Amino acid sequence: MSETVVEVRDLSKYYPPDVKAVDGISFTIGAGQIFSMLGPNGAGKTTTVEILEGLRNPTSGEVMIFGQNILKDYSKLRKRVGILPQNFEPFDLLKPWEAIQYWTQLYDIRITKKEINRALERVGLFERRNIHSKKLSGGEKRKLGIALSLVNNPELLFLDEPTTGLDPKGRRDLWALINEIKEKGTTVFLTTHYLDEAERLADDVSIMHKGKIIAEGSPDNLVEKYGKATIVVLEGAGSSGLQKLKEKGIDAHLDDADERDVLVPVRKHSEMKSMMCTLASSDINMADIYTRRETLEDVFLNLVGSKMEDGVLKE
Ligand SMILES: Nc1ncnc2c1ncn2[C@@H]1O[C@H](COP(=O)(O)OP(=O)(O)OP(=O)(O)O)[C@@H](O)[C@H]1O
Ligand SMILES: [Mg+2]
Repeated sequence: MSETVVEVRDLSKYYPPDVKAVDGISFTIGAGQIFSMLGPNGAGKTTTVEILEGLRNPTSGEVMIFGQNILKDYSKLRKRVGILPQNFEPFDLLKPWEAIQYWTQLYDIRITKKEINRALERVGLFERRNIHSKKLSGGEKRKLGIALSLVNNPELLFLDEPTTGLDPKGRRDLWALINEIKEKGTTVFLTTHYLDEAERLADDVSIMHKGKIIAEGSPDNLVEKYGKATIVVLEGAGSSGLQKLKEKGIDAHLDDADERDVLVPVRKHSEMKSMMCTLASSDINMADIYTRRETLEDVFLNLVGSKMEDGVLKE
């Protein structure tokens, strides 16, 4: 068991008159882990993160970071944590290298030109060091934000929705960077509303909804515990294939992502063999047939009853 870095007990934050932004949550984060708080808009993620960063006071509950109660004294902790706030925007007229220099001054850290360059290299911004920040792409601005959050070599890093609004390449670049940060031994608290991001990056995931944690565990645990089925994929079978299965009374649906593949959930392991035989011998045109386990996306749907796209719950 790794050492506990964050311990949260029965934490609540209420806003008058009746908003329960965080409603009695508890969790722990082990050293060197990526912990992901996953949830739709308004779930209470930023409120939780900002309490842990010492920026908001909780209504009740207890938070220990590195074994210290954060309400008693945050000043000693501040040097050991890094923060990337939600929707971070660097100052328009500072160049990346100037922004790093400015940030280190806020922390009272002396930094050499060489160290500034190394900090920019680490996040892949060295080539862009002399460009005004307003001209950086969305992904580059987040990378600069991460570089700034790392200036004090934090042991615990808070990243509040670092990839929201980025294109797929921007997201993948940041995933690689977050993994590198973890490999260097930093514990990461990551909020997101992207299920694939949590599944790919996190050691532990807490699914948050309406101020409460409704499920927690590693992505594998969550799928094992809350997944309902194994999925048989009929690749390229399309709506005509779906129609044929429906005529045979088989429960199936089109894959949302492309509407080309037909998905058949098989709930009992013992039924898999006969279902595969039925499907393989049917006269449906398809490119391939294979099984896959459910993903966090399916788990979320099973738990919340709706899908989530860009943080918005879909009917
Ligand atoms: N200062 C505030 N005063 C009143 N209500 C607030 C305040 N800050 C947040 N809330 C409410 O608390 C709830 C949780 O908000 P929070 O920002 O923590 O959610 P979130 O999970 O970070 O959402 P998002 O994905 O949109 O960033 C929301 O209903 C929000 O409107
Ligand atoms: Mg938020």
